Formats: sequence, C-alpha cells, structure tokens
Amino acid sequence: MKSSAPPAPRDTRLIELWSLREDTTVETVADDPGTGLVSTRWDEIRLPMADPVVSRALERMTYGPVSLDNVLPGFSDTRSLPGDPRRAALRSTLEAVRHAVIRTLALADGTEQMSVVPIVREARFAPRSPAPDGVHRLSRFATLRVGSHDMVLESPLSSHRVLLHTAQAMWLVSCYVRPASVRETARLLDVPLDVVRTAVGYLEAAGMLVPAVRLTRTDPAGAEGPDSARAAAPGAGRDTVTGPGAGTAGGPWDPESHPHPLAFAEDRDPALEHWSPRELMLHNRSRPGLHDEPLGLAGGTAEAPKDAREHPDSDAVPLVLPVPDLDLVLARDPRLTTVLESRRSVRADGGLPLSLAQLGELLYRTARARPAAGRPYPSAGSVYPLELYVTVAGSGELPRGAYHYDPAAHTLFPLRTDPALVDALLEEAGANAGLSAEPPVLISMTARFRRLNVAFPGIAYSVLLKEVGALQQTLYLVSTAMGIGPCALAFGDTATSARAFGLDWRAESGVGEFVLAAVPTGAASAESGGAPTRRP
Ligand SMILES: Cc1cc2nc3c(=O)[nH]c(=O)nc-3n(C[C@H](O)[C@H](O)[C@H](O)COP(=O)(O)O)c2cc1C
Repeated sequence: MKSSAPPAPRDTRLIELWSLREDTTVETVADDPGTGLVSTRWDEIRLPMADPVVSRALERMTYGPVSLDNVLPGFSDTRSLPGDPRRAALRSTLEAVRHAVIRTLALADGTEQMSVVPIVREARFAPRSPAPDGVHRLSRFATLRVGSHDMVLESPLSSHRVLLHTAQAMWLVSCYVRPASVRETARLLDVPLDVVRTAVGYLEAAGMLVPAVRLTRTDPAGAEGPDSARAAAPGAGRDTVTGPGAGTAGGPWDPESHPHPLAFAEDRDPALEHWSPRELMLHNRSRPGLHDEPLGLAGGTAEAPKDAREHPDSDAVPLVLPVPDLDLVLARDPRLTTVLESRRSVRADGGLPLSLAQLGELLYRTARARPAAGRPYPSAGSVYPLELYVTVAGSGELPRGAYHYDPAAHTLFPLRTDPALVDALLEEAGANAGLSAEPPVLISMTARFRRLNVAFPGIAYSVLLKEVGALQQTLYLVSTAMGIGPCALAFGDTATSARAFGLDWRAESGVGEFVLAAVPTGAASAESGGAPTRRP
C-alpha cells in the first residue's frame, strides 16, 4: 500500500529524553550537601546526591527533556558495563523518582515526537521493544483530545498520559485503529523498523496500545491447526498473525464466534467487558486517586455565578402555591420508619391528578428554599444547582402545561410551552414508567451547570447526579408519607425538555425525572396494576 503519511524526516532515528514533571522540585538538604530532596506532587524523597552526575542529571531534568547521554556519556548504551557504579547510581535515582519522570522520544535534531507523563504515584514506565511481527491495537479505552499545545492520548486504565507533539506521532497512533504489526506500520509510514519498535514500545508501556495474543484453534478432529486457521482468517495478512510478538497464550479460538485468530486481553477481561470507554473515563476522572487532574475538593468555596434573569420574555403571573401548616403535617404524618418501610415505586395506570394543595405541600416539604437553612434536600457546598419544572396532564386544578418552580417564592411560573412538547414530555415519562397512559404529574430536574462547575471543577457532574438522587429520595419519602404514588425515572429526552422549558441545553438541561400520581388512601404502599415494561 502506498503511504500518504506526512513526509518522514530525513533522519528518523529516535533518541530518548528525560525530564521531571513541572510540579517537581530538586534541592539539596541544607545541613547535608550529600543528600538531595525531590518534592513531587505526591511525596518528598530524600536521595543520596554525593555523585555530581546524579545531581546534574536531576537539575537538567527540571529544565526540560534532556538526553542523559549528555550528562553521563554511554548512559543509554545497553552494551555498557552493567557494573558501572555511576550508571547504577543514576539508574537507581531515576527509579526512586520514576513517578515524576517524563519520558520523551525525539529525533536526533531534537524535535520531540511524543512524551509519556506519569499521572499517579504508582506509575511505572518500562518500555520494551516489541518483536517486528508483534501485533498491537489501540486500547478501546484510549481517547484523543486537544491539549494546550499537543494532542493528548489518555485512557482510564493507564497510569500515564501521552502527549503527541507531531503529525508523524499522530499518524503512527492512527495506524493502530485496527490490529497491525510493527513491520506493517513501518512499511506504511516508510520509516525504519527500529523507529516503530521504539515508539510502539512506548505506547504499549503507557497502556495506549494493547498487544495481541494469538488464539489456537481447538478442533476436536485436529484437522486444522493454527497455521491453516491463519490462512483462512479473512483479511489476515501474514504480518498480522505470525511471529513471537503475537503470542500464543490467548486461549482457544472458535472460528464460528470469532472470525479472527487474534485476541486482546482487555476485550476478554470480565471486569472491563461491560464498561463503555466514556463511562469508565467519567468514573475514573470524577474521583481522586487514579489521575492528576484538578478536582474541586475544596468543597465549593468559589462563589457561584449569578443566573440570568428568569423568564425575561414572559408577562405571565406566577401561581402562588398553598403552604402547608407544618404543625398539622407533624401531627398527621406517619413515623419515619413507617414511611421508609412502606416506600415503593408506584406505577399505576389511570393515576389521579394531584390537588393544588398536595402539589404545594409536596414541593414545600421537599424543595423550597428555607430562608435560614437551605432546602429540605442536601446540596454539595450549598450550591443548589437543580431547578424543578412541573408538567401536569391537566385533569385537576392546574391547567395542562409546563411550569417552573421558584423555591424562594414557592410559586409555579407558567411557561409558554408548545402543547406538542407537553404531550411529548408526558408520553415519554409514561413510557419510561411502564404506563400505558400519561402520568398526571412529571417533575423534571434540570441543572444550571455553571453553578457547580465553578464550585467543583472536575467533579461537578458526578456531584450533580448524587444531588439528583438525594432529591429523588426526598420526593419518594414525602410523597409516600402523603399517600401520593412516586416513581423515579432513569432518563428523559434532553432535547425535548430543553425545547419545552426554553433552555440552552449546554447551560441548563435535564438531569433527573420523577412522576407522581395521587392514589386512593393505602394504595401507595404497593404497586397497583400497569405492569411496567422498563424499570432500571
Ligand atoms: C435512579 C433511578 C431510576 C429509576 N428509573 C426508573 C424508570 O425509568 N422506570 C421505572 O419504572 N422505574 C424506575 N425506577 C424505580 C426502580 O425501578 C425501583 O426503585 C426499583 O424497582 C425498586 O422498587 P421500589 O422503588 O418499589 O422499592 C428508578 C429508580 C431510581 C432510583
């Protein structure tokens, strides 16, 4: 195949450069000049630094990528004497600070091609050159995004991120969208085999490329062995299936279920099988421990931005909701344990509309803003990013339509929602609750994302979903206590609700849905009729 890769530089040999993460400092201990102190974002390490080669190497590495051969001639020469004490001292120092060491591949003229950056304390980078016929593929969890100066290749399964500095490096990575051998890739890119071996060794050690293992065919009759199986594999060129790098420990190959005799460990790992790359990355990056991205762990100290004025284009009059007498509620309510023990999701076809008094009481007891003490449900950093929209089917006191709840004024603001969108919201909610008709009331929770993104960078979305859960349970408990049938929903259509409530979905959109129906006294403790079709 003719390559259309970016033209390869004339001298494509790769050299290895070493540097320290920018957040790492190196100094000598004041009262002990033979000891150095390396401070990383995770720890402080005391090291013997009597040998000037060691201190010079670390100091140079704080300025940026450096060839250690320039500090200690012959450092990278694998043929040099293993017993060389200076080399051994430098190696053991690099090993001690390995979680702060960035490894870079560059051309002989200094052009940096790719860098592998450790992102956790436990990171360990030990690249090895793969065999020329070794087959690799990009991990299905690898993602490429735009960084500040480079393309960033990362994976939730990796202890490193890889910065791709040049078009050639990106082209190499793109060769591995499908399984390919080192030899094939070198031919495609028109660069020497050893260059690809070195680069692939880096990408494999960083967890971005995964090595193939070759499956062995299990044929009870023994008529066909691995070789004939290889020949029969559709699209399998010789390079992609042979050679020591392809491995043989992949287990049995059943051509019926698996058309290709190659396998990748991550595809067969039961712990990974059901993860989508997107969700695993969100999970990984929204908690500390497995990456180095900034997380808003300070607890929302930043001031939340002011929201735009509410409903600027409407002259509708807000509907003042009834306020319950909390003394009466206290006297009438079942005890907490009774409520908890009888709480159920109620999905009843033909559910009754809520009276205005019921809706007012429910919203007051679950979601109103209390002047001195937040709201009845908790909110991380007291940011309260959730907004409530109430859509009613309209057979009760409230006309059919969508309303926005104002938790401070305890009012419902009627929205000028297209009736077709009201139909769509209620129809979807009914279907998601397994009903054959519309639910009488749908509460849609939206989030004003800026409020949380400012207070909790990096963890805003996961915090938000936890808050939805807290509000959902508050709605469950209060409606159960009131004899109203509640049911949480797993999702709602983001585009429909954004149009219905007049929102720019990027700034505010649906994050939680909840349906309600008034049920005859006593019926809320058990499901009644309308067998649901979908109950996540
Ligand atoms: C986050 C969440 C999402 C849910 N989504 C749905 C849904 O889409 N449709 C539905 O009928 N029930 C839904 N439910 C209700 C669950 O199916 C219900 O809680 C579960 O079956 C346990 O039954 P119980 O609530 O009666 O104890 C959801 C519950 C939660 C907490």
